[in-house]
Amino acid sequence: KMRGGWVECRGDMDAFAPGLLSIYESLKPSEEHKSKQSQLIDSLAKSVSKEWPNARLHLYGSCASSFGTSHSDVDVCLEIDIGTGSVVELLLRLAEILRTDNFDDVEAITSARVPIVRMLDAGSGFSCDICINNLFAVANTKLLKDYAQIDGRLLQLASIVKHWAKLRAVNETYRGTLSSYAYVLMCISFLQLREPKILPCLQAMEPTYTMVVDDSECAYFDEVHQLHDFGAENKESIAELLWAFFHYWAFQHDYRKDVISIRMGKIISKKEKNWTTRVGNDRHLMCIEDPFETGHDLGRVVDRQTIRIIREEFERAAAILQHSDDPCDTLFQPY
Ligand code: CTP
Ligand code: MG
Repeated sequence: KMRGGWVECRGDMDAFAPGLLSIYESLKPSEEHKSKQSQLIDSLAKSVSKEWPNARLHLYGSCASSFGTSHSDVDVCLEIDIGTGSVVELLLRLAEILRTDNFDDVEAITSARVPIVRMLDAGSGFSCDICINNLFAVANTKLLKDYAQIDGRLLQLASIVKHWAKLRAVNETYRGTLSSYAYVLMCISFLQLREPKILPCLQAMEPTYTMVVDDSECAYFDEVHQLHDFGAENKESIAELLWAFFHYWAFQHDYRKDVISIRMGKIISKKEKNWTTRVGNDRHLMCIEDPFETGHDLGRVVDRQTIRIIREEFERAAAILQHSDDPCDTLFQPY
């Protein structure tokens, strides 16, 4: 029994699948884009290894998780032993080195929650963020990438949702809306909850992969090639799924009680997480549990005003897909 009553999608919904798939295809980064990206990373690795021969560079975020589009930035994590020094000192030194090596527009942003060096590669137009020892991000990137290999509809759904969120201005954490990462977690959770299921819960299976980060274990089943037909019994098209995704977040999710958890593969309660009252800046109005840093709520950026905006956008999207004659056009109209 679903909340908000049972609503079926329109009978001709599948007719919009080809249009949505062509949008998805057009978002995919080109081969040229990918090779420019790897050139940038190679030259970055060279600069870094001159100064810190024992440091390692990891790619994370959408350029590594396969959720990237031609608009995505390049996220890099430098794994390094900082000894008695500080992250900020290290970032300032890194910025200096990159400027000397002729990278463009290098800037150390040290006051952010996750301090980074940001640069813009003029040749390719990429923006590149470098953080230090953020290995949880490296681990969750691999988890996302592994989920993407199980059923192609995840990548399609998440790319389209991210694209929609950017155009509708609800993908701006500094303004109280959600990160791309949060939207991908919402898509994974949604596909875990379909009947029949489209995605399994990898963290509930016998672990075949373990990475230890800050004394905590990130473990899950990663032999995903064994699961390539997991979702085959479910025949829903991308059009039905996209509508059902927006419909769920507009009308069925219980914002007062529910937490989505890809770690558990189901909805859990705010009560059991102790996310019922505001703690500091965490309001917990829309709860999305991080799969490894389980104390993190990716919805913590959302406030009373932005939750209204986000929910109205979900309702708008669901209504357009349900009623419009040309939903693919209207849905992505810039806000
Ligand atoms: N990340 C995280 N915790 C957050 C936000 C981000 O661990 N609260 C990590 C995740 O590993 C995520 C990466 O940072 O994959 C990049 O985040 P984000 O830019 O939101 O996602 P992308 O998929 O890179 O989005 P885009 O394509 O818009 O660049
Ligand atoms: Mg990114």
